[in-house]
Amino acid sequence: MYRRSGVCIKPVQESRPGSWGGRNAPCTDDRSLSGFIIPVKAVSDVEYEPPYLYPDYRSTELRAPRHEPVRLPDEWFHNAPGPIFGRIPVRPEDADLTRQHRGEPLGERIIITGRVLDSDGQPVRNTLVEVWQANAAGRYLDPVDHHDAPLDPNFTGAGRCLTDDAGFYRFVTVKPGAYPWRNHLNAWRPAHVHFSLFGPSLSSRVVTQMYFPGDPLIPLDPMMSSISDPRGRELLIARLDLDTTVPEWALGYRWDIVLRGRRATPAEA
Ligand SMILES: [Fe+2]
Repeated sequence: MYRRSGVCIKPVQESRPGSWGGRNAPCTDDRSLSGFIIPVKAVSDVEYEPPYLYPDYRSTELRAPRHEPVRLPDEWFHNAPGPIFGRIPVRPEDADLTRQHRGEPLGERIIITGRVLDSDGQPVRNTLVEVWQANAAGRYLDPVDHHDAPLDPNFTGAGRCLTDDAGFYRFVTVKPGAYPWRNHLNAWRPAHVHFSLFGPSLSSRVVTQMYFPGDPLIPLDPMMSSISDPRGRELLIARLDLDTTVPEWALGYRWDIVLRGRRATPAEA
């Protein structure tokens, strides 16, 4: 066991090929920190995960576990098949966030694409990728978003698709704006897109965020800073990709996502 970012962390057994133990296996050893019960994380499985409690990111104080974790029977949850599609089938047009209304949304049209990979570099096929984001002005279509920025009647900010046989996903959208979030005085989130991915089972679901290269707000962001290793933070930043860019139409960004293993894409803190 060792300590990272003030949080006790205990390695757990590596997941076996062909099985899916999930990114954060159930914890068996906890330590208290400022009254919190801090579940240990499976760092042998995931190298760059942020801690559950990171005081500079204030929301973590509200959701960091305060009770000892409950270990669920292995056969009850961890092997439940995924992904979950809901009652409405995934349609090709769900992946184009600029075509969901009568007109086109305002902002810079972009393409985001990449591969979803397993720990051995193999593509994760036919898995559900969901995204949600603010509009170009930095405003979510969400009643709890009170940012004084305009809504866009032509932009909902949500999409989904299934990965293809090579593990590729692809979205067309507009570049989201930065927005204030009251974490601390003059706190602004870097432009980002939220991602949710399902692997082959429910316990492998990953919820994370993708950022844009060169954003000056990234070094100031406590969510990013909660990932102590700069290599982990880099894994969340897409790269401008001219092969994805469509001339005269939209810039393209490439962002690959690794679901598990030591190079797994970090999840949200
Ligand atoms: Fe956000």
